[in-house]
Amino acid sequence: MDKDIVRLLNPALQHIKAYRVEGGQQADVKLNQNESPFDLPLWMKDAIMEEFKHESWNRYPDVLPFKGIKAYAEFLGISSESVMMSNGSNEMLYTIFLACLARGRKVVIPEPSFSLYDKLAVLLQAERVDVPMHEDLSFDVEGIIRKAQEEKAGFIVLSTPNNPTGKSLSLEEIRRILSETEAIVLVDEAYVEFSRQESALNLIEEKPNLIVLRTMSKALALAGMRIGFAVTNPQLMAEIAKPKIPFTSSRLAEITLSHVLDNYYLVDEAVDYILRERERVSEVLKKIKGLRVYESDTNFIIIKVPEANKVFSFLAGEGILVRNVSGYPLMENCLRFNMGLKEENDLLLEKLGALE
Ligand SMILES: Cc1ncc(COP(=O)(O)O)c(C=O)c1O
Repeated sequence: MDKDIVRLLNPALQHIKAYRVEGGQQADVKLNQNESPFDLPLWMKDAIMEEFKHESWNRYPDVLPFKGIKAYAEFLGISSESVMMSNGSNEMLYTIFLACLARGRKVVIPEPSFSLYDKLAVLLQAERVDVPMHEDLSFDVEGIIRKAQEEKAGFIVLSTPNNPTGKSLSLEEIRRILSETEAIVLVDEAYVEFSRQESALNLIEEKPNLIVLRTMSKALALAGMRIGFAVTNPQLMAEIAKPKIPFTSSRLAEITLSHVLDNYYLVDEAVDYILRERERVSEVLKKIKGLRVYESDTNFIIIKVPEANKVFSFLAGEGILVRNVSGYPLMENCLRFNMGLKEENDLLLEKLGALE
């Protein structure tokens, strides 16, 4: 790139990379993006398309997707003023980071966490205060509180259950972090439906500094539809909504959301299946020599292998795409894979077993 042009760009661009999915997004057995293996049934897609057909495609949707917001607020049993919908939770992360950070502001991020947090903090020229996880990849709660206090951080970002570690904070630990620091605490609950822990939504009325982030991309099987939500008290919501890009949610996303929420028994069934597979697959993995299997609170499992790059390539050659997460701190030689259909998981187990 021409140096004179680079000089004109945001200097932070020199410190970030474009997002990419190593190994791509196509495979016979695709276990690398923590998606649901269950697509919506055709009868539901037909009903959604039928409704969407009668929309005016030449008109803008609402500035903010009030219908989707209302549907999710009713589903959660809270006021619409506490809820904001976005085009995937990634978009909401941009909005919330823009609202909470600026040059020189301090943000506490447990490491390793979802990579977008770091990237957004760098882009906004905020100061990152990293708090490493424990050796078993669990959260260092004391460290998070101590660092936030020492550094007088105004923003803490917690992904729980956490991607990429699969570990969670308990509700009590989140309450402590909220009480013992003077920060806005963003709790990203992308994987909460798979967790043994209670949701931080239980603390929204109690804690004015809490924002909870949700996605419909994982348990609700809508990764392709791009739907995320933030939940907080109405006062804070009015502030964090200010930088939001208008019109980012399509009517198709709103309509789809309503249909999925109206048929939530399908989500419950899918989650049950995935949790059963998680336990079954973990038990089989533990019997394979040379693997370390981390306890998971999500729809994916982390294993440590002798040589992650080799195992990743071997599996890819067999048509199985997993995520090589060995570049993250504390996760050397670790691979991550979400639960697929039983037969897909069996194939993965067979190939990993063959490496023994
Ligand atoms: C912790 C976490 N947060 C947010 C997201 C973004 O999800 P989406 O933009 O699909 O809602 C992901 C996706 O993998 C994630 O793992």
